[in-house]
Amino acid sequence: MNTDALERISPIRLPDLLRRMPKAELHIHIEGSLEPELIFALAARNGVVLPYASVDALRQAYAFTNLQSFLDIYYAGASVMLTEQDFFDMAWAYLERATADNVVHAEIFFDPQTHTARGVSMETVINGLHRACAKAPGALGINATLIMCFLRHLSEEEAFQTLEQAMPLRDKFIGVGLDSSELGHPPEKFARVFARCRELGLHLVAHAGEEGPPAYIWTALDLLKVERIDHGIQSVKDAALMGRLARDRIPLTVCPLSNLKLRVFPTLADHNLGQLFDAGLVATINSDDPAYFGGYMNENFVQTFAAIGLTAQHAYTLANNSFTASFIDDVQRRAYIDRLDACFDSFA
Ligand code: HPA
Ligand code: ZN
Repeated sequence: MNTDALERISPIRLPDLLRRMPKAELHIHIEGSLEPELIFALAARNGVVLPYASVDALRQAYAFTNLQSFLDIYYAGASVMLTEQDFFDMAWAYLERATADNVVHAEIFFDPQTHTARGVSMETVINGLHRACAKAPGALGINATLIMCFLRHLSEEEAFQTLEQAMPLRDKFIGVGLDSSELGHPPEKFARVFARCRELGLHLVAHAGEEGPPAYIWTALDLLKVERIDHGIQSVKDAALMGRLARDRIPLTVCPLSNLKLRVFPTLADHNLGQLFDAGLVATINSDDPAYFGGYMNENFVQTFAAIGLTAQHAYTLANNSFTASFIDDVQRRAYIDRLDACFDSFA
């Protein structure tokens, strides 16, 4: 992409460019895409009684003070999921919404333990989600893969049991991640299960440095041997860590509206994405739990760019980073970047 062309793009056209550019989403929890309307529809379909009187009452409960205050509601919302069709419908709703934002590739997290703990089988979860991912390229033109997350507030033993339950479905997910309550649950708690996943050829990622300290990012890298860090925004507190992330080109999947809603930063203008860029890190923008945090991909891009004053050059870099950081082959990556270049050329 020729950078002169980028400089000619007027700032007035930036929101339109952000919306139109093809992009990959690498940090989306599928249970966090459940809109209140779908939660109520699934509750009615399955005869589940919710502790909220209406869609509006549920939405009003979305006033979070930190990660845990969100997780409590997020797990309650996911409790309406029972059948394979429910998992298909949840993933399909997300894929349609992501396609509208010109997301062309998504690597989707799911939390099987949230469901298996309620008696839903691993097959029900993975087969429903996978059926939506398999249908998406032909029906919507979006590519989608699955990453299974272990809940870090549970034990490593339970993570091993989860992995074992998922092994018959090994060809339906490409990697594993680590999510849920970060503080007090450092990555090293899961060192052995991640080592096993590595032997199995699974891709490895982990949430680290969302609320937790830079030390958790170091151990995610050195002990879990992850390929990407989810969030990673606390890395700015550790200059040596910033050097390491830049040198090894470890991607960070940053989620600005999530950080705002969970009060990691008091306002979006205080977000440190600009600092991450300036330090040469491979940062990406993602939605995390869009139904809970007030925006899907394009909303994250448009609001963040307006708040911290990013440019068309940053837009290109962020979209390009999203493909660089994706777990896809080089042919697919080249094809996406060609589409990105064509989009920018049409704006120049
Ligand atoms: N952090 C940790 N766990 C999560 C998140 C998050 O942002 N979203 C869903 N589970
Ligand atoms: Zn997350």
